[in-house]
Amino acid sequence: MDLMEKITALAKRRGFIYPGSEIYGGFSGFWDYGPLGVELKKNIKKEWWKSMVYEREDIVGIDSAIIMNPKVWEVSGHVEAFTDPLVECKVCHHRFRVDKEDSVCPDCGGKLTEPKKFNLLTEVYVGTTEEGKEKAYLRGEITQGVFVNFKNVVDSTRIKIPFGIAQIGKAFRNEITTGNFTFRSREFEQMELEYFVKPEAKEAERIFEFWKEARMNWYISLGMSKINLRFREHEDAERAHYAARAEDIEYKAPFGWSEFEGIHNRTDYDLTKHNLKYKDEDGEEYTPWVIETSGGVDRAALFFLLNAYHEEKERVILKLDPRLAPYKVAVFPLLANKEDLVKKARQVFDKLRLSLSSTWDDRGNIGKRYFAQDEIGTPWCVTVDFTTLDDETVTVRDRDSTKQERVAIDKLPQYIENKLHS
Ligand code: GAP
Repeated sequence: MDLMEKITALAKRRGFIYPGSEIYGGFSGFWDYGPLGVELKKNIKKEWWKSMVYEREDIVGIDSAIIMNPKVWEVSGHVEAFTDPLVECKVCHHRFRVDKEDSVCPDCGGKLTEPKKFNLLTEVYVGTTEEGKEKAYLRGEITQGVFVNFKNVVDSTRIKIPFGIAQIGKAFRNEITTGNFTFRSREFEQMELEYFVKPEAKEAERIFEFWKEARMNWYISLGMSKINLRFREHEDAERAHYAARAEDIEYKAPFGWSEFEGIHNRTDYDLTKHNLKYKDEDGEEYTPWVIETSGGVDRAALFFLLNAYHEEKERVILKLDPRLAPYKVAVFPLLANKEDLVKKARQVFDKLRLSLSSTWDDRGNIGKRYFAQDEIGTPWCVTVDFTTLDDETVTVRDRDSTKQERVAIDKLPQYIENKLHS
C-alpha cells in the first residue's frame, strides 16, 4: 500500500474521514468527518483563530452567510470569470479539467475536444413557491462575505487601517474532476484573512511578504516538516481574475507538490467592484488594497495527517503536534476486571476531561491500547495500576519516545497542560 492508501484506510477505520453519503454509494467530491476528524479540523481552526484573531489587536473575525444576494457574484466577477477550462472526450463523453499532460482521454484513450470554459459556482434555488424561486449561488470563496461587510465592520468597531478581517467557513465549487482523497472536493472549508492596507503598491508588497512568511511559519510551528513545504509564485496565465500577485504554499504530497494555501494581492479590485471606500481620521477617503491569505482546512488536515504518519517496527504512529491531536490523553485501568482500579481510573478520567479532550480504553492488554492510541496520535497515555491505589500516582507514557513517568494525580492536568504548550 502506498502512503495515500494507508492514510485513506486509517482515516476510515479509525473515524477521521468517511466517504460522503456512503450507504447510497457515495457522492463524488463530498466527505464526512468522523469523531476524530472533527476534532482534528476543530484544532486546526482553533490554532488558526488564536494566531490570527486572539493574538493580534489589528484583526477581527466575522461569520457571514453561505448564500448571498446573487448580485455579489455578478459584481465580484465570479459569474463571468470563475472558470476552469474543460475538455470532453469525443468517444466516451467524459469531461475533464485541462491538465498539461492530457492529450487523450484518460478513461478510454479517445480524442479530446478543444477546451471550453466551465463555471465553478454551485447554483441553488431559494424561495418557497415554484414561481417565486430565485437562483442564487453557494459561495465559491468565503471572501466575498468579508467585502460585503467591510463597512459594517469599520462602522461597528474601532479598527483602523491597516487592519484585517478573518473568517473560517464552508465554500463550494462545482469541480469538474475531484480526487486525491479530500484534496479536490466540491464542498470544503477555508480559513481566510483579508488584510486592508493603504492603496500603495510598496506598502502592499511589504504586507504581502510579511503574511507569506507568517503563514509558512505557522504550518512549520505546528509540525509540518520544512522539506515538504515550498512557495510557488503563480504565472500570469494561472492567476485568478482578482489577483495581481499570487503565491502558493505547497506540500510535497504523494501525488506531487500541491497547493493548500494561497497568498494574494487583490489590490483594490474587490472594494472598487463593490463601490466601497474607507475614510481615515483626517477625512481622507480612499479604496484600500487587500492582501489575502487563503488556506484550506481540509487540505491542511490531509497534509497534517500525511506529515504525521510514521511506521516504527510494529507500530504505526501519527506524530501530530499535541495541539492538533484529537485526544490529548487516554486513560486506562491496568486491568479491566479489578473494580478498585477501574473506579480509580474513572476518577482520573473524569478529572482530566474537564479541561482536556480525553478518551477511555479498558479493552485488551496495555500493549494493544498503546498501539491503538499511537495510531490516532494521542500524545499521552495514563495508566492506573496497583501502585496508584497506595500513593495516588499514575504512569504517563509518551507517544513518541514511549518513555514513562510517574506523576501525582493532583498534578496531572497541569503536567499535561505544560507539555501541551511547551
Ligand atoms: N479567496 C481566495 C481563494 O479562494 P483559492 O486559491 O481558490 O483562493 C484557497 O483557494 C484555498 O482553498 C486553496 O489553497 C485550498 O486549500 C482550498 N481549496 C480550493 N479549492 C478546493 C477544493 N476543490 N477542495 C478542497 N480545498 C480547496
